[in-house]
Amino acid sequence: VEAALADGPLRGKRILVTSGPTHEPIDPVRYIANRSSGAQGTAIARALAALGAEVIFVTGPADIPPPDGVEVVRVETAREMLEAVQGGLPADAAIFAAAVADWRVASASASKMKKTKGGLPQLDFAENPDILATVSQMTKGRPGLVVGFAAETDDVVENATAKRQRKGCDWILANDVSAGTGIMGGSENAVTLISADGAEDWPRMSKDEVAARLAERIAQALGGGF
Ligand code: CTP
Ligand code: CA
Repeated sequence: VEAALADGPLRGKRILVTSGPTHEPIDPVRYIANRSSGAQGTAIARALAALGAEVIFVTGPADIPPPDGVEVVRVETAREMLEAVQGGLPADAAIFAAAVADWRVASASASKMKKTKGGLPQLDFAENPDILATVSQMTKGRPGLVVGFAAETDDVVENATAKRQRKGCDWILANDVSAGTGIMGGSENAVTLISADGAEDWPRMSKDEVAARLAERIAQALGGGF
């Protein structure tokens, strides 16, 4: 790893990676979250560092440890993640692997909500900021390469292609997270890389292999060789 750090094709490049879920509080003991182990984002950060990149790893609460050799910024909520990302820029590239909660409870309760006889809590929701879209659409200081993921259960490539255009990122890695694929929480991933040039299916492989392949593509795109 040390040799790779010294000589890798991404040496001198600063790359920001988001990973894991976000937790949106309902009250001090409850939260809303997405299903995400953080495995793919962690593998990507590790692969980029192995090619010599300086990696800023912005992670929501995940059970797996962050990789060695990266700068770790821990956050809880989507709004904290956006702030951490903005604080981590400028960067040569930014990879958005986090499963960000789309909604938060508009006003989380400062005290624990209690069961009341016959009553149910009423939760009002607010939409979280779209971190990927915010960074993709920066007019000043946008990273040269912005990569998102698209977790889809239906019409995967169509939805992800539209998502790439809507958000304004350069690449989207689309994955089918339908129940039964075993991708959420599993060690493998099957992705389609969508860019302005079209869609490229990658065979199903381990999340580590997806990360290694993506890191190589990023190195090519940033002009670092391969
Ligand atoms: N993303 C983000 N901030 C959000 C929501 C999503 O940065 N508030 C990023 C994710 O990290 C991912 C990409 O956007 O890289 C796509 O996430 P996804 O949930 O598939 O897309 P959404 O735009 O939230 O659309 P939907 O969930 O409705 O399909
Ligand atoms: Ca979403």
